[in-house]
Amino acid sequence: EKGGFDHFMLKEIHEQPDAIVDTYRGRLLPDQDIIKMGSVDNNITKFLNSKRIVIVACGTSWHAGLVGEYLFEDLARIPVEVEYASEFRYRNPVINKDDIVIAISQSGETADTLAAIKLARSKGAFVFGICNVVGSSIARETDSGAYTHAGPEIGVASTKAFTTQITVLSLIALKLGHLKGEISISDYHNYIQEMSIIPSKVEELLKIDKEVEKIAAIYKDAPNCLYLGRGYNFPVALEGALKLKEISYIHAEGYPAAEMKHGPIALIDESMPVVVIATKKGHYEKVVSNIQEIKSRKGKIIAIVTKGDTQVKAIADHVIEIPDTLEPFTPLLTTIPLQLLSYYIAVMRGCNVDQPRNLAKSVTVE
Ligand code: F6R
Repeated sequence: EKGGFDHFMLKEIHEQPDAIVDTYRGRLLPDQDIIKMGSVDNNITKFLNSKRIVIVACGTSWHAGLVGEYLFEDLARIPVEVEYASEFRYRNPVINKDDIVIAISQSGETADTLAAIKLARSKGAFVFGICNVVGSSIARETDSGAYTHAGPEIGVASTKAFTTQITVLSLIALKLGHLKGEISISDYHNYIQEMSIIPSKVEELLKIDKEVEKIAAIYKDAPNCLYLGRGYNFPVALEGALKLKEISYIHAEGYPAAEMKHGPIALIDESMPVVVIATKKGHYEKVVSNIQEIKSRKGKIIAIVTKGDTQVKAIADHVIEIPDTLEPFTPLLTTIPLQLLSYYIAVMRGCNVDQPRNLAKSVTVE
């Protein structure tokens, strides 16, 4: 049932190329330069007239929502707020009639997300769901929605659910950006073509797992770890840190790289591994100077770079290369080595990777 893999988590990490194809099948039509999504098409006036999108979710799905914020603002020029479902529901949130609420949930059963949806609907919002489990409570409670079609995710640590949620968000953002005239025809074409080859780039990236395993062996006993990223990859830093803490029980924090100097830099010494996402796109030079700040305080740098990088390579202790892609799609690639890193560290520490202590696959309590 684990298809030859030692754990469901590793199997699900490796399923991502297929899962992403399953997510965009029938929706992304690269030969015609079309993005077809029934649930968006049927509600297109609501989407095009929306003044704001509010995304509600928990955990990893909340991180996907943060990537969604960059996607919608960058590609479709729609302001976005991303809310922890648990906070949103206990405030007295301001919902205006032209707001769209997007709820993201793998299981479709998360109690706080479900309650947030009910609250938003009671205030008259149009609620769109992005769920993996077909027929789940959240899928039923929303006005409309799109499934991720990632297939069952058994490992408690969410992996393919995350990348497929980002895939759905990318498709919607591109479609709206195109219809609103915010993306040029040629950029739209390029995004569609690039999206269609993302699965093969993920596939290529999965081949580096032995390299990641070696890095894992060096840092498996670290008590703490920092993850840094900027722009589209800031949420990936948060997700990388969450993956490490939940399955290996190593304390980890994700930060926007530029926030380092406002506090966390005090933690840096020779025993602190710092994972930095430093792809060529997205404020590269700024990230390079953040890396220099860490190096001069003797921190250990594990950098995720674009293939062919030389500048970061010269200063980092370890580099993991990812294939080049368009900036909005970098999270789909940079996430992969971080999933593998936490997986191998957890295995080496003898942790129960698929069923970490104190965690459940769907959190149906509030
Ligand atoms: C992390 C993880 C959790 C879930 C969160 C939301 O790996 O699995 O943080 O992402 O409990 O779950 P869903 O997406 O089912 O609403």
